[in-house]
Amino acid sequence: MIELKSSREIQIIKESGKILQEVFKTLRPMIREKVTGIELDQAAEKVIRESGAQPSFKGYRGYPASICVSLNEEVVHGIPGTQPLFNGDIVSIDVGVKWNGFHTDAARTWAVGAVDDRRKKLIATAKDSFDVALSKIKVGWRIGDLSEAIQKYVESQGFQVVRDYAGHGIGRELHEDPQVPNYGKAGRGAKIEPGLVIAIEPMVTEGSYAVETLSNGWTVVTKDRKCASHYENTVAFTEGGFINITKDEATE
Ligand code: MF3
Ligand code: CO
Repeated sequence: MIELKSSREIQIIKESGKILQEVFKTLRPMIREKVTGIELDQAAEKVIRESGAQPSFKGYRGYPASICVSLNEEVVHGIPGTQPLFNGDIVSIDVGVKWNGFHTDAARTWAVGAVDDRRKKLIATAKDSFDVALSKIKVGWRIGDLSEAIQKYVESQGFQVVRDYAGHGIGRELHEDPQVPNYGKAGRGAKIEPGLVIAIEPMVTEGSYAVETLSNGWTVVTKDRKCASHYENTVAFTEGGFINITKDEATE
């Protein structure tokens, strides 16, 4: 069941998103050679807790950290570890914030130092697919229209979209209805209407979209071990259009 949010609730979700933006502002300049996932995780948790909020992911189904750090062939749900970043890596950081009972969820993929053009394009494609889909949204759209727009854009760039994981409704729970797949058919799925709040999160692969989970039970990697990128924002739909709750020009 989809829980539509009131404008008062969307106000709180905006505050939650502001804290999440602060996390990215702190992490962005830390992205360079030698920094470890654990250091990024600790910095993120500090910002969240000092804001009086909680990290949504910590303890979620037993997840052990405050953020996800997924490198190169890791698609999502990488557990921050002692492995340092290297020049040429791409790193995806996924953050969830719970503030006043409401979650926000966002992810960015960033280059570590100088990365090759193909990796740059892979990073840009996840973000651009999100932007293209959102910019096309019209009154009366359904989730399937969003899904198809993301898939079409990604495939037009020569990449693929992951099927096994999807975006989701978000609010009092981190994951709510509806599911927001990154592939599909226009005209299908729930109506996009005022009060709908969803996390839209394209996951894009350089090679095949097939993924598997490592033996730690969390880290999702591409089966062919080619690179993947991930971009996510929490978006609230209103009478007037939509609010991209977690977008922040400074840390795109
Ligand atoms: N953005 C991720 C998702 O929606 C956040 C979940 S990570 C978890 O799946 F570790 F908390 F599971
Ligand atoms: Co999410």
